[in-house]
Amino acid sequence: MAKPVAIEVWNPNGKYRVVSTKPMPGTRWINLLIEQDCRVEICTQKKTILSVEDILALIGDKCDGVIGQLTEDWGETLFSALSRAGGKAFSNMAVGYNNVDVNAANKYGVAVGNTPGVLTETTAELAASLSVAAARRIVEADEFMRAGLYDGWLPHLFVGNLLKGQTVGVIGAGRIGSAYARMMVEGFKMNLIYYDIYQATRLEKFVTAYGQFLKANGEQPVTWKRASSMDEVLREADLISLHPVLDKTTYHLINKESLATMKKEAILVNCSRGPVIDEVALVEHLRENPMFRVGLDVFEDEPYMKPGLAEMKNAIVVPHIASASKWTREGMATLAALNVLGKIKGYPIWSDPNRVEPFLNEKALPPAASPSIVNAKALGLPVSKL
Ligand SMILES: NC(=O)c1ccc[n+]([C@@H]2O[C@H](COP(=O)([O-])OP(=O)(O)OC[C@H]3O[C@@H](n4cnc5c(N)ncnc54)[C@H](O)[C@@H]3O)[C@@H](O)[C@H]2O)c1
Repeated sequence: MAKPVAIEVWNPNGKYRVVSTKPMPGTRWINLLIEQDCRVEICTQKKTILSVEDILALIGDKCDGVIGQLTEDWGETLFSALSRAGGKAFSNMAVGYNNVDVNAANKYGVAVGNTPGVLTETTAELAASLSVAAARRIVEADEFMRAGLYDGWLPHLFVGNLLKGQTVGVIGAGRIGSAYARMMVEGFKMNLIYYDIYQATRLEKFVTAYGQFLKANGEQPVTWKRASSMDEVLREADLISLHPVLDKTTYHLINKESLATMKKEAILVNCSRGPVIDEVALVEHLRENPMFRVGLDVFEDEPYMKPGLAEMKNAIVVPHIASASKWTREGMATLAALNVLGKIKGYPIWSDPNRVEPFLNEKALPPAASPSIVNAKALGLPVSKL
């Protein structure tokens, strides 16, 4: 028998029971559920990562849907329990869903939601922040200043890399990778090289048009290139940012061999998922190449860092905060709640998960649809005509 976990209840007499495994930012997501006759139960247990047993206790005997987090292991055990409790939907409050066994969800007929679009710019901005912070050694310089070590301007003090005119490499030029590429090209006038299994046509058009604009104004135009392999990006770029999904093809994409192909003074940024980098190999590379710098938002064994990483002056590390802007986190909560609500109410699936703005407009009612269900096709769910 699973131990009970602490909860907060909203609208106790609601017809549908929806559970959120964490308190989430904002109140709009709660109000939207309550207005549609949901009883909302929010887990308030003081425990950062809930175990499968904790979530089983939350699901209980009757549960119509669950909103969960990327730190939870959503597989056979939880989907079978949710299905037995009458549940129809689960939504991650995240765009990535590598913590979810979608085949298991399909087996039990549970819809799996995610929250694309709303975190694109926020995540790209953190990747850009880490890029600049690493290039200009901002964290090292800040620590030096606070330690009282600054005793006057010196020509060699914290000399870093100029980004303008250098090449930015993007691996995984989807929503976030493309937004990041535009920021670095437009903001810092960097040339772009990218690798993705699909062509990023809109991104290519943007860089072409911006290059023409610069040329017309008498400036050096920016350029782009779609690389035929990831190694080409690693060899040519001065700054590389990783934005692919995490799956079998991207696990340890950056390892001892690929690190060796990068420039000795390159900068590597990861705001995708930790296991995309072999972190043990990275620590070794950072130790042997003091001018190589890295900015990391995600780690292979979160919440832990591999031994030695914390001591590396050439590494900037932040605790998985890439999507942490108020607007984005409240929007993620709203999309996750509407994914679950839509399935409970029998609504169709929104036709374009990249165009989620209508769900985020606080001045209007959201469309009667689930914004993004990743296994909609496998479950044969109808698509909205809105
Ligand atoms: N750090 C954070 O807080 C945070 C926030 C948001 C998203 N993310 C991560 O970022 C990822 C990307 O999000 P998105 O919204 O841009 O997704 P997306 O699906 O729009 O983009 C992912 C891109 O990766 C490409 N890709 C897949 N396999 C590849 C491979 N082997 N090599 C090169 N490219 C490959 C895809 O073709 C796609 O273009 C998410 O899956 C998530 O894991 C992290």
